[in-house]
Amino acid sequence: MEIKKLLEKAIYYLNDSEYTNPYYEARLILSGLLDKDLSYIISHEDENLSENISNKYLDILKKRSDGWPLAYILGETEFYGNKFYVDEGVLIPRRDTEISVETISKIISKNKIKNILEIGSGTGIVSISLAKENEDIEFDCIDISDKAISNTKKNIKFHNLSNVRVFKSDIYSNVCKKYDLIYSNPPYIKREEISKLQKEISYEPITALDGGVDGLIFYRRIIKDLDEYLSKNGFLVLEIGYDQKEDIYQLLSNYNHSCIKDLSSLDRVIIASKGEIDV
Ligand SMILES: C[S@@+](CC[C@H](N)C(=O)[O-])C[C@H]1O[C@@H](n2cnc3c(N)ncnc32)[C@H](O)[C@@H]1O
Repeated sequence: MEIKKLLEKAIYYLNDSEYTNPYYEARLILSGLLDKDLSYIISHEDENLSENISNKYLDILKKRSDGWPLAYILGETEFYGNKFYVDEGVLIPRRDTEISVETISKIISKNKIKNILEIGSGTGIVSISLAKENEDIEFDCIDISDKAISNTKKNIKFHNLSNVRVFKSDIYSNVCKKYDLIYSNPPYIKREEISKLQKEISYEPITALDGGVDGLIFYRRIIKDLDEYLSKNGFLVLEIGYDQKEDIYQLLSNYNHSCIKDLSSLDRVIIASKGEIDV
Protein backbone atom coordinates (compact mmCIF):
# COMPACT_ATOMS: atom_id res chain seq x y z
CA MET A 1 0.00 0.00 0.00
CA GLU A 2 1.15 3.58 -0.72
CA ILE A 3 2.46 5.68 2.18
CA LYS A 4 -0.26 8.30 1.65
CA LYS A 5 -2.98 5.64 1.85
CA LEU A 6 -1.43 4.26 5.04
CA LEU A 7 -1.37 7.77 6.54
CA GLU A 8 -5.09 8.17 5.75
CA LYS A 9 -5.75 4.99 7.76
CA ALA A 10 -4.35 6.82 10.78
CA ILE A 11 -7.25 9.25 10.61
CA TYR A 12 -9.65 6.31 10.70
CA TYR A 13 -7.95 4.63 13.68
CA LEU A 14 -6.76 7.57 15.74
CA ASN A 15 -9.13 10.44 15.11
CA ASP A 16 -11.34 9.73 18.12
CA SER A 17 -8.50 9.84 20.63
CA GLU A 18 -8.17 13.21 22.30
CA TYR A 19 -4.48 12.65 23.02
CA THR A 20 -3.19 11.88 19.55
CA ASN A 21 -2.03 13.81 16.53
CA PRO A 22 -2.87 11.15 13.91
CA TYR A 23 -0.73 12.22 10.92
CA TYR A 24 2.31 13.09 13.03
CA GLU A 25 2.13 9.86 15.02
CA ALA A 26 1.53 7.79 11.89
CA ARG A 27 4.58 9.32 10.23
CA LEU A 28 6.68 8.58 13.34
CA ILE A 29 5.48 4.97 13.37
CA LEU A 30 6.29 4.55 9.66
CA SER A 31 9.68 6.19 10.03
CA GLY A 32 10.46 3.72 12.86
CA LEU A 33 9.29 0.72 10.81
CA LEU A 34 11.24 1.80 7.71
CA ASP A 35 14.22 3.09 9.70
CA LYS A 36 14.05 6.41 7.80
CA ASP A 37 13.69 9.93 9.11
CA LEU A 38 10.45 11.94 9.04
CA SER A 39 11.47 13.98 5.99
CA TYR A 40 11.75 10.73 3.97
CA ILE A 41 8.15 9.80 4.86
CA ILE A 42 6.92 13.29 3.92
CA SER A 43 8.76 13.33 0.58
CA HIS A 44 7.93 9.74 -0.48
CA GLU A 45 4.15 9.60 0.00
CA ASP A 46 3.70 7.78 -3.35
CA GLU A 47 6.06 4.94 -2.42
CA ASN A 48 4.46 1.50 -2.22
CA LEU A 49 5.29 -0.44 0.94
CA SER A 50 5.37 -4.23 1.22
CA GLU A 51 2.39 -6.12 2.61
CA ASN A 52 4.51 -7.15 5.58
CA ILE A 53 5.34 -3.55 6.59
CA SER A 54 1.79 -2.34 5.83
CA ASN A 55 0.30 -5.06 8.08
CA LYS A 56 2.77 -4.33 10.89
CA TYR A 57 1.86 -0.64 10.66
CA LEU A 58 -1.89 -1.34 10.75
CA ASP A 59 -1.42 -3.63 13.80
CA ILE A 60 0.41 -0.83 15.60
CA LEU A 61 -2.32 1.69 14.73
CA LYS A 62 -4.94 -0.63 16.23
CA LYS A 63 -2.96 -0.93 19.46
CA ARG A 64 -2.40 2.81 19.51
CA SER A 65 -6.15 3.40 19.14
CA ASP A 66 -6.56 1.32 22.32
CA GLY A 67 -4.24 3.76 24.11
CA TRP A 68 -0.90 1.93 23.82
CA PRO A 69 1.59 4.78 24.41
CA LEU A 70 3.59 6.04 21.45
CA ALA A 71 6.87 5.94 23.42
CA TYR A 72 6.43 2.18 23.98
CA ILE A 73 5.58 1.66 20.30
CA LEU A 74 8.65 3.58 19.14
CA GLY A 75 10.84 2.37 22.03
CA GLU A 76 12.23 5.86 22.47
CA THR A 77 11.37 9.45 23.23
CA GLU A 78 12.99 12.86 23.42
CA PHE A 79 13.71 14.57 26.72
CA TYR A 80 15.65 17.78 27.34
CA GLY A 81 16.83 17.73 23.71
CA ASN A 82 18.23 14.18 23.85
CA LYS A 83 17.04 10.78 22.70
CA PHE A 84 16.28 8.16 25.37
CA TYR A 85 15.24 4.53 25.06
CA VAL A 86 11.94 3.74 26.79
CA ASP A 87 11.18 0.10 27.64
CA GLU A 88 7.71 -1.21 28.36
CA GLY A 89 7.24 -1.53 32.11
CA VAL A 90 9.14 1.71 32.82
CA LEU A 91 7.59 5.15 33.34
CA ILE A 92 7.50 7.23 30.15
CA PRO A 93 9.36 10.54 30.63
CA ARG A 94 7.13 13.59 31.06
CA ARG A 95 7.88 17.04 29.70
CA ASP A 96 7.21 18.59 33.14
CA THR A 97 10.22 16.74 34.52
CA GLU A 98 12.48 19.05 32.47
CA ILE A 99 11.78 21.62 35.23
CA SER A 100 13.59 19.28 37.65
CA VAL A 101 16.65 19.23 35.37
CA GLU A 102 16.62 23.03 35.06
CA THR A 103 16.24 23.46 38.84
CA ILE A 104 19.12 21.09 39.65
CA SER A 105 21.29 22.79 36.98
CA LYS A 106 20.76 26.13 38.73
CA ILE A 107 21.68 24.62 42.12
CA ILE A 108 24.82 23.09 40.55
CA SER A 109 25.82 26.43 39.01
CA LYS A 110 25.68 28.20 42.40
CA ASN A 111 26.98 25.52 44.78
CA LYS A 112 29.80 23.01 44.99
CA ILE A 113 28.04 19.72 44.23
CA LYS A 114 30.30 16.67 43.84
CA ASN A 115 27.74 13.86 43.92
CA ILE A 116 24.01 13.33 43.35
CA LEU A 117 21.66 10.48 44.30
CA GLU A 118 18.52 9.95 42.23
CA ILE A 119 15.84 7.86 43.94
CA GLY A 120 13.60 6.10 41.38
CA SER A 121 15.47 6.80 38.14
CA GLY A 122 13.05 5.04 35.73
CA THR A 123 14.59 5.50 32.27
CA GLY A 124 17.40 7.60 33.81
CA ILE A 125 16.44 10.80 31.99
CA VAL A 126 17.14 13.24 34.83
CA SER A 127 20.56 12.00 35.95
CA ILE A 128 21.71 11.33 32.40
CA SER A 129 20.63 14.78 31.12
CA LEU A 130 22.55 16.38 33.99
CA ALA A 131 25.55 14.04 33.77
CA LYS A 132 26.11 14.95 30.10
CA GLU A 133 26.62 18.58 31.13
CA ASN A 134 28.46 17.92 34.42
CA GLU A 135 31.20 15.36 33.85
CA ASP A 136 32.88 16.19 37.18
CA ILE A 137 29.79 15.19 39.22
CA GLU A 138 29.15 11.55 40.18
CA PHE A 139 25.56 10.36 39.78
CA ASP A 140 24.15 7.31 41.60
CA CYS A 141 20.73 6.20 40.36
CA ILE A 142 18.64 3.73 42.31
CA ASP A 143 15.34 2.05 41.54
CA ILE A 144 13.37 -0.86 42.97
CA SER A 145 12.34 -2.08 39.51
CA ASP A 146 14.68 -4.39 37.54
CA LYS A 147 13.16 -3.11 34.28
CA ALA A 148 13.92 0.49 35.26
CA ILE A 149 17.50 -0.43 36.22
CA SER A 150 18.04 -2.17 32.89
CA ASN A 151 16.49 0.81 31.00
CA THR A 152 18.71 3.30 32.86
CA LYS A 153 21.77 1.14 32.05
CA LYS A 154 20.80 1.09 28.36
CA ASN A 155 20.57 4.90 28.30
CA ILE A 156 23.85 5.35 30.21
CA LYS A 157 25.52 3.19 27.55
CA PHE A 158 23.81 5.00 24.68
CA HIS A 159 25.02 8.37 26.00
CA ASN A 160 28.46 6.89 26.71
CA LEU A 161 28.71 8.22 30.26
CA SER A 162 31.24 7.11 32.85
CA ASN A 163 29.95 9.33 35.69
CA VAL A 164 26.57 7.59 36.19
CA ARG A 165 25.93 4.23 37.85
CA VAL A 166 22.69 2.50 38.74
CA PHE A 167 21.83 -0.12 41.36
CA LYS A 168 18.82 -1.68 43.02
CA SER A 169 17.62 -0.19 46.27
CA ASP A 170 14.36 0.25 48.14
CA ILE A 171 14.75 4.00 48.79
CA TYR A 172 17.94 4.05 50.92
CA SER A 173 18.19 0.28 51.67
CA ASN A 174 21.42 -0.17 49.63
CA VAL A 175 22.67 3.42 49.83
CA CYS A 176 25.69 3.75 52.07
CA LYS A 177 27.07 7.26 51.73
CA LYS A 178 26.11 10.92 51.85
CA TYR A 179 25.29 13.07 48.82
CA ASP A 180 25.41 16.81 48.19
CA LEU A 181 22.08 16.60 46.37
CA ILE A 182 19.31 14.01 46.51
CA TYR A 183 16.64 14.10 43.81
CA SER A 184 13.44 12.15 43.43
CA ASN A 185 10.33 12.14 41.29
CA PRO A 186 8.71 9.33 43.27
CA PRO A 187 5.33 7.69 42.65
CA TYR A 188 2.91 10.32 43.97
CA ILE A 189 -0.58 9.65 42.66
CA LYS A 190 -3.26 8.92 45.26
CA ARG A 191 -4.26 5.26 44.94
CA GLU A 192 -7.95 5.94 44.34
CA GLU A 193 -7.15 8.41 41.54
CA ILE A 194 -5.09 6.01 39.44
CA SER A 195 -8.07 4.27 37.82
CA LYS A 196 -9.52 7.66 36.79
CA LEU A 197 -6.46 8.69 34.76
CA GLN A 198 -6.14 8.70 30.95
CA LYS A 199 -6.30 5.25 29.34
CA GLU A 200 -2.68 5.54 28.16
CA ILE A 201 -1.46 5.60 31.77
CA SER A 202 -2.94 2.16 32.44
CA TYR A 203 -0.12 0.75 30.27
CA GLU A 204 2.51 2.20 32.63
CA PRO A 205 3.81 0.36 35.72
CA ILE A 206 1.79 0.83 38.89
CA THR A 207 5.03 0.85 40.96
CA ALA A 208 5.96 4.12 39.23
CA LEU A 209 2.61 5.78 39.95
CA ASP A 210 1.09 4.61 43.23
CA GLY A 211 1.94 6.96 46.08
CA GLY A 212 -0.36 5.22 48.58
CA VAL A 213 -3.67 6.38 49.99
CA ASP A 214 -2.66 10.05 50.29
CA GLY A 215 0.03 10.06 47.57
CA LEU A 216 2.73 10.93 50.10
CA ILE A 217 4.27 7.64 51.29
CA PHE A 218 7.49 8.02 49.30
CA TYR A 219 8.00 11.65 50.35
CA ARG A 220 7.59 10.57 54.01
CA ARG A 221 10.14 7.76 53.61
CA ILE A 222 12.66 9.92 51.74
CA ILE A 223 12.44 12.79 54.26
CA LYS A 224 12.39 10.60 57.41
CA ASP A 225 15.97 9.32 56.92
CA LEU A 226 17.24 12.26 54.89
CA ASP A 227 19.77 13.55 57.44
CA GLU A 228 21.61 10.23 57.28
CA TYR A 229 22.21 10.50 53.51
CA LEU A 230 22.37 14.23 52.79
CA SER A 231 25.64 16.17 53.30
CA LYS A 232 25.61 19.15 55.67
CA ASN A 233 23.70 21.96 53.90
CA GLY A 234 23.04 19.64 50.95
CA PHE A 235 19.90 19.91 48.81
CA LEU A 236 16.83 17.74 48.49
CA VAL A 237 14.95 18.30 45.21
CA LEU A 238 11.53 16.69 44.79
CA GLU A 239 9.15 16.65 41.87
CA ILE A 240 5.61 16.89 43.26
CA GLY A 241 1.95 16.79 42.24
CA TYR A 242 0.32 20.20 41.73
CA ASP A 243 -1.60 20.01 45.05
CA GLN A 244 1.06 18.49 47.34
CA LYS A 245 3.24 21.48 48.26
CA GLU A 246 1.69 22.28 51.66
CA ASP A 247 1.70 18.65 52.83
CA ILE A 248 5.34 18.23 51.82
CA TYR A 249 6.34 21.54 53.42
CA GLN A 250 4.93 20.13 56.68
CA LEU A 251 7.13 17.05 56.32
CA LEU A 252 10.08 19.41 55.75
CA SER A 253 9.48 21.57 58.82
CA ASN A 254 13.14 21.25 59.90
CA TYR A 255 14.42 22.51 56.53
CA ASN A 256 14.37 25.73 54.55
CA HIS A 257 12.28 25.19 51.46
CA SER A 258 11.07 26.79 48.28
CA CYS A 259 8.94 25.76 45.32
CA ILE A 260 9.33 26.15 41.54
CA LYS A 261 6.27 26.29 39.30
CA ASP A 262 5.95 24.62 35.89
CA LEU A 263 5.01 26.28 32.60
CA SER A 264 1.31 26.03 33.53
CA SER A 265 2.06 27.92 36.79
CA LEU A 266 1.44 24.81 38.88
CA ASP A 267 3.66 23.90 41.84
CA ARG A 268 6.08 21.32 40.46
CA VAL A 269 9.47 21.12 42.20
CA ILE A 270 10.39 21.59 45.88
CA ILE A 271 13.91 22.43 47.01
CA ALA A 272 14.85 21.88 50.67
CA SER A 273 18.08 22.44 52.58
CA LYS A 274 19.32 23.24 56.07
CA GLY A 275 21.52 25.86 54.40
CA GLU A 276 20.62 28.80 52.18
CA ILE A 277 18.49 28.21 49.07
CA ASP A 278 19.39 30.71 46.35
CA VAL A 279 17.65 29.57 43.15
C1 LIG B 1 7.41 8.53 38.84
S1 LIG B 1 8.66 7.37 38.40
C2 LIG B 1 9.98 8.48 37.99
C3 LIG B 1 10.97 7.93 36.98
C4 LIG B 1 11.97 8.96 36.45
N1 LIG B 1 12.73 9.57 37.50
C5 LIG B 1 11.24 10.03 35.65
O1 LIG B 1 11.10 11.14 36.13
O2 LIG B 1 10.83 9.73 34.52
C6 LIG B 1 9.09 6.70 39.97
C7 LIG B 1 10.18 5.64 39.96
O3 LIG B 1 10.37 5.21 41.34
C8 LIG B 1 10.60 3.82 41.34
N2 LIG B 1 10.26 3.29 42.68
C9 LIG B 1 9.05 2.93 43.16
N3 LIG B 1 9.16 2.49 44.43
C10 LIG B 1 10.48 2.58 44.77
C11 LIG B 1 11.23 2.27 45.94
N4 LIG B 1 10.63 1.77 47.03
N5 LIG B 1 12.57 2.48 45.93
C12 LIG B 1 13.17 2.97 44.81
N6 LIG B 1 12.52 3.29 43.67
C13 LIG B 1 11.19 3.09 43.65
C14 LIG B 1 9.71 3.29 40.23
O4 LIG B 1 10.13 2.00 39.81
C15 LIG B 1 9.85 4.38 39.17
O5 LIG B 1 10.89 4.10 38.27
